[in-house]
Amino acid sequence: MCGIIAYNGQDDAIPYLLEGIRNLEYRGYDSFGCAIDSPVGIIIKKDIGRVDDVINKYKIQNFSSNKAIFHTRWATHGGVKTENAHPMIDCMHRIAVAHNGIIENWAELKESLGTHKFISDTDTEVLSHLIEEKLSRGSDIQSAVKDTFNQIKGSSSFIVLDKQSEDLIAVKKGSPLVLGIAKNGNFLSSDVPSFVRHTNKVVYLSDGDMVVLGKRGYTITNLMNRDVNHDVSTVNLSAKHAEKGDYEHFMIKEIMEQLAQMKSLESADFGNVTRAAELVKNAKLVYLIGAGTSYHTALLGAKVLRENGIKSAAVQGQDLITYRNVISEDDVFIVISQSGETADIINAMPLISKNKKIGIINSEGSTLTKDVDIFIPIDAGPEKAVASTKSFTLSSVYVTLIAMFAAGKKEEALRDLKLLNINMYNLLVPSVLSAIDKAAEKIKGLEDVFFLGRDSDYIMALEGALKLKEVSYIHAEAIDAATFKHGPLALISDKTYAVALVSESTRNDTLYNLQEVKARGGNIIGVSDKNENVFDMFIRAQNGGAFGFVTQSIILQLLAYKTSILKGINPDRPKNLAKAVTTK
Ligand code: F6R
Repeated sequence: MCGIIAYNGQDDAIPYLLEGIRNLEYRGYDSFGCAIDSPVGIIIKKDIGRVDDVINKYKIQNFSSNKAIFHTRWATHGGVKTENAHPMIDCMHRIAVAHNGIIENWAELKESLGTHKFISDTDTEVLSHLIEEKLSRGSDIQSAVKDTFNQIKGSSSFIVLDKQSEDLIAVKKGSPLVLGIAKNGNFLSSDVPSFVRHTNKVVYLSDGDMVVLGKRGYTITNLMNRDVNHDVSTVNLSAKHAEKGDYEHFMIKEIMEQLAQMKSLESADFGNVTRAAELVKNAKLVYLIGAGTSYHTALLGAKVLRENGIKSAAVQGQDLITYRNVISEDDVFIVISQSGETADIINAMPLISKNKKIGIINSEGSTLTKDVDIFIPIDAGPEKAVASTKSFTLSSVYVTLIAMFAAGKKEEALRDLKLLNINMYNLLVPSVLSAIDKAAEKIKGLEDVFFLGRDSDYIMALEGALKLKEVSYIHAEAIDAATFKHGPLALISDKTYAVALVSESTRNDTLYNLQEVKARGGNIIGVSDKNENVFDMFIRAQNGGAFGFVTQSIILQLLAYKTSILKGINPDRPKNLAKAVTTK
């Protein structure tokens, strides 16, 4: 995925866009580029590297213009090279295009543009040349963009700067694009936090929308003939939500935010949870769909539903196709996604177009929010660190609430939320923090770490292993403690470390399995409410009630974060990863 932000108006665009693109860097950090409108034509500056490095290299802060587009790239099509950084221009240097998405039919389109000179390996470059081709045949810029949009396949949102036009033209399909309406001009961006310091008035664009962004106003038409809502919404988000504040990294800020977020759930209005629970109660089967971390939420939700007598299955988005012959119209789907943009999930949606869908989604206005019947905004606020933390715990709390409400256990759920907050209060005490530090100190030098647990402890083990892999580059593998004896035990030696999750309901069986690890010389870092003889190191997690997984999860997030820091890695920007995965 990539990040785009553009401004057109009376003010100088450059300071706005510099701030905005730094904010969007979580969406991609391979290369940066910009197109700046100027009296002598379009100025293009682009290069590989982190946003700030490229900005400083080309002294972008010294430019001034009322109209510009900035882009930060995460390479999908074409390697990390300066030529592949956006924006792309046409042969005559009349237009510049910044794009987020994938053009599936780029090869045939490129072939049809035989005489045009391509300089990059990207799919994006066909856009600038296609538009140029249409302009050369007499189209005006709006028709040229519209016809280009109709020719491309895949999910693509892009913004066009034409040196002969006062306007910026943008279209949205698949990848996110929002319009921000400020006092002296307007923004187009991949997300709201990137411009929220200047306005909280937004229009969440829909697929097919084409925006003509003038200096003073804008028009929106839908090129897919959809009847969509273009009302202006006021977002309840302040600039501080999108900034690190006093924290060194977004990841630790977002981990710590969970304490207040869990507390605020105690007074939340669960109207949409109640409506979702009604749907779920009457479903033939409930499918929970997610990817990566959100799939772990799906696993947890499916387990809690089954325990409450509701038939359910967790499925990774890309795997839903294998269920196509068994899905019935009476099945209900719970779609879980932080970004609301994950391609593996979006691509599965046509398979369930006739089914009722509940969305547990963090990003308001995102593609998936428009595809569900009941949208449960988890209100985690912007999640900027690449590794998902607060969205995981909040969405996991929401699936658990839906299951418990559907089973008539609303009071028990609300009581357990209170218990969770008592446990949260005792969670990050100095003894626990220093135990996490010691464990991270041990783990930082390892090449492999196992994460073990049974039941929901196993699901948290899966999530803990994923977090450690992402931000510390250590091979971490979660294995059900009961399954360990079916093969993986062969790997154990006195050099092996396993992080073991133990809670009240799993204690006896898991401890039995851990003895088997211990007997073969393995070392165990226990995450549990009680210290056990089998543990070599111990991190206390108060984990009672239906939401006990939250405290376990926060400990594992901190363990991954601290290990990352000790290894000198920036946990907010792990190599090779992007925040939302919009590729197949
Ligand atoms: C891991 C992580 C990814 C995402 C996955 C799905 O920390 O962030 O595994 O969970 O790419 O993303 P969403 O939830 O945005 O659909």
